[in-house]
Amino acid sequence: MGAKPRSLSGIKPTGIPHLGNYLGMIKPAIQLQETHETFYFIADYHALTSMRDPEQLREHTYDLTAIFAALGMDFENNAFFRQSDIPEVTELTWILSCITAKGLMERAHAYKDAVAKNQEVSMGLFCYPVLMACDILIYDSNFVPVGQDQRQHLEITRDLAIRFNHLYGEAFVIPEAIIEKEVALIPGLDGRKMSKSYGNVIPLLAPEKQFRKAIMKITTDSKAVDEAKDPDSCSVFALYKCFANATEQEALAERYRSGGMGYGEAKQICFEALNAELKEPRKIYQQIRTDQNKLDGILESGRDKARAVARQVTDRVRNKVGL
Ligand code: TRP
Repeated sequence: MGAKPRSLSGIKPTGIPHLGNYLGMIKPAIQLQETHETFYFIADYHALTSMRDPEQLREHTYDLTAIFAALGMDFENNAFFRQSDIPEVTELTWILSCITAKGLMERAHAYKDAVAKNQEVSMGLFCYPVLMACDILIYDSNFVPVGQDQRQHLEITRDLAIRFNHLYGEAFVIPEAIIEKEVALIPGLDGRKMSKSYGNVIPLLAPEKQFRKAIMKITTDSKAVDEAKDPDSCSVFALYKCFANATEQEALAERYRSGGMGYGEAKQICFEALNAELKEPRKIYQQIRTDQNKLDGILESGRDKARAVARQVTDRVRNKVGL
């Protein structure tokens, strides 16, 4: 292990990342490289609990790899890899399953929701938290940055690690969650939270024209150009805030309040602020996304780095249980 603490997180390849994913997860994840050794993986095994399209699964895996590359992930000093490239993770999942109480899984939110909605529950969905615990424990992870929705999974992970250590002696590092502070709610095109399931997303690194067009489509009220407007209830302004410093925010808020600026102009200003940050990454993304060798190389080097750690921890655990 290096001198920096290790942080690990996973992202499911279930769709094309949008601005909400970027602000909530990808950007903070990349910033963490400064203070942590970061391991990020594409949770393709977890995606199988809901995805049935092989082609999309493969494409989204490459999309994510190219996005992390374009946004400045340092692959030399960190690791970026596919979950399914580390067979040890399923090996460990079996071992950990054997000390996991079924009742604990029955209290997991995702499972309970599926039952409440009368959805079919696969064993994959039911055991999702054990696999996730292994994702974390297998790399001796110190920290796990995740969204609020993953809090319970982290608690389950800690419970299982503590239980194992208690039964067999110290084998696992007990990880700590870093729960993203409530990122200011990122509104989508219709003003509701930006979410794939609402169909209101702005794709992160879409071609500039398409990106601008999406911003121009954000819903606003129908105040005329000369009327005074309220920045705090406007989705355009909320989005702008995520990309502008305090002085810039105040300047635009002032223009809202004093009237004389139409929403078309506000959207253009918003577009320019977002584009200033995303223009360069978009260019790199477009180049690298078609460079299959490069993407495979990134995933292979991440795999080798991650697998070396995973093997060690799995052997430690096998030894403890008597295998
Ligand atoms: N369950 C996470 C999600 O849905 C993805 C994930 C899988 C993950 N394994 C992980 C996140 C391990 C952090 C650590 O977003």
